[in-house]
Amino acid sequence: MEINNRTVRLNERPNGLPEKKIWSFNEENFDLKLDDNQFIIKNEFISLDPAMRGWLNDARSYIKPVNIGDVMRAGTVGKIIKSNNKYYNEGDYVSGWGGVQDYTITNGENFQKINDDKVAKESYLGVLGMPGFTAYFGILREGKIKEGETVVVSAAAGAVGSVVGQIAKIKGCKVIGIAGGENKCKYVTEELNFDHCLDYKSDNFFSELKDKCKGGVDVYFDNVGGSLLNHMLIFISKGARIVICGAISQYNSQKVVGPSNYLSLLVNRASMKGMVVFDYVKDYGLAQKEMRDWILTGKLKSNEDIYEGIENFHEIFLKLFNGEKKGKLILKL
Ligand SMILES: NC(=O)c1ccc[n+]([C@@H]2O[C@H](COP(=O)([O-])OP(=O)(O)OC[C@H]3O[C@@H](n4cnc5c(N)ncnc54)[C@H](OP(=O)(O)O)[C@@H]3O)[C@@H](O)[C@H]2O)c1
Repeated sequence: MEINNRTVRLNERPNGLPEKKIWSFNEENFDLKLDDNQFIIKNEFISLDPAMRGWLNDARSYIKPVNIGDVMRAGTVGKIIKSNNKYYNEGDYVSGWGGVQDYTITNGENFQKINDDKVAKESYLGVLGMPGFTAYFGILREGKIKEGETVVVSAAAGAVGSVVGQIAKIKGCKVIGIAGGENKCKYVTEELNFDHCLDYKSDNFFSELKDKCKGGVDVYFDNVGGSLLNHMLIFISKGARIVICGAISQYNSQKVVGPSNYLSLLVNRASMKGMVVFDYVKDYGLAQKEMRDWILTGKLKSNEDIYEGIENFHEIFLKLFNGEKKGKLILKL
């Protein structure tokens, strides 16, 4: 069986916002030969995540960088087309780290079967996948939310933020989202049921933020970092928890902006703690089961923004940073 595999490999490391030239787009033909225990997946959906920007840097992090010449690391959902593994059969759907390519050969390590005829397969890259787990463990285990508390979440229309706010609503919190643009804010309040959503691109953003946070913020779930994080420190209440999930405003920046208002943590006996979703891997199943139940009972909405064509990978990837997408960004092959 001859396989024609289109791949996106890392060509060079970026400076600032990645340019198209950092990738190579390839067609790689090979005769399919599987070793014992191996199977081959035809990838159908590829997850595009802000973390991918960090994996391009040759720097110490929670995971190794992608090497020059390697297929770009990415979460995938696909269908097994041939298997020499007794636990995985032809026709099974799996999610895992398949990379930006048409086909992945694996022995199953870091792959999970998807046995679900009720929820869309691509949701296993969003609310029932890594971003959903980040939201679930971030807001429940790190944010430690309690009924009646006030929660603020940035990048609220995105894959993680949209789930954070919905879980906080399920748990009886007052939820304020922050997102870019009127349309996204409308989506956050009208479809996701947040109490408020503030447009950080509008002129009166800071006065509105001050007004909505005047009762004190118990949990700030930070996806954005930079000056917004600094600003949020002013509004925290006594014993507040700031969950440092990400800092997308800084990922392409040459000069990182940090929080100078940090003494607010002292005054308010508050905590600010970073989290990495991979630390919760042993409990992914629990989170997946509970969130799937919430989806099926209409309490939790999943929203995937899907674009087609591996040849458009670069342009679609940039949508993470230019505000041009809503919900979980996915590339369909
Ligand atoms: N710690 C972990 O284990 C973990 C796991 C997954 C994700 N994360 C982090 O969580 C954050 C959200 O990830 P996600 O997958 O849910 O992405 P996402 O929110 O679906 O997409 C990124 C969004 O960030 C906003 N954004 C982009 N540039 C911005 C800027 N300069 N200032 C303010 N907002 C900006 C954009 O929304 P607007 O249009 O609203 O600006 C964009 O849609 C990221 O920082 C990511 O690195 C962390």
